[in-house]
Amino acid sequence: MKTLLVIDSSARSNRSTTRALTARFAAAWQARFGEAAVIHRDLGANPPPAIDEAWIASAFGEPNGETPAALANSETFIAELFQADVIVIGAPMYNFGMPSALKAYFDQIVRVGRTFAFTEDPENPYQALIPSKPVVLVTSKGSGEYEAGGVLESLNFLEPHLATILGFIGLGDIAYTKVAREEYKDEAWRYMVSAAEAEVDRLAADLAVA
Ligand SMILES: Cc1cc2nc3c(=O)[nH]c(=O)nc-3n(C[C@H](O)[C@H](O)[C@H](O)COP(=O)(O)O)c2cc1C
Repeated sequence: MKTLLVIDSSARSNRSTTRALTARFAAAWQARFGEAAVIHRDLGANPPPAIDEAWIASAFGEPNGETPAALANSETFIAELFQADVIVIGAPMYNFGMPSALKAYFDQIVRVGRTFAFTEDPENPYQALIPSKPVVLVTSKGSGEYEAGGVLESLNFLEPHLATILGFIGLGDIAYTKVAREEYKDEAWRYMVSAAEAEVDRLAADLAVA
């Protein structure tokens, strides 16, 4: 059984570019592996709570063999990440970075002793604890020009931030599928959507999983 974890973070329930592409990937994945399991973590519909005093005290406290109530969401999300063979993430650009629901999710799952560890090596102070697996990162932006050399390049905190956090916990094997100019819905946008659809189909058909 191949398990796909789909993480959606668009606050739109319909007319969402990222949701359309993650759903397309999931359908193709199920067609490829007839009995593939799909876990759908819908952060747009159900944003995780922000971490708080109890979460931090529990996450950095001495383990006593029981899961503190404050870490219940965190444990559920982390278990899904370990269970998955492949992960597809839909991430719109909101105010130059990721949606707050997706940031809240990463605050829940980046946990010492569970998804990363401190080391004694000053050259390499962190160790990722999630075994590497393919991640398909689907992004959509309203404007264009965020790519290298574009006039908005310095304002793009979406993919760089996501790549940093994902790599930090061991998920650095990332395939990017990007759409831009969604606000314009022009010829260039339509071309990017078609290219993203083809890329999603190719990845769903070709990605090697353990
Ligand atoms: C709250 C909000 C903030 C946004 N901020 C930006 C932004 O900073 N830069 C940009 O290019 N587009 C921005 N957009 C446009 C979205 O990135 C674009 O509509 C994208 O397609 C949303 O993803 P979705 O179609 O999956 O919902 C914003 C949209 C919303 C709703």
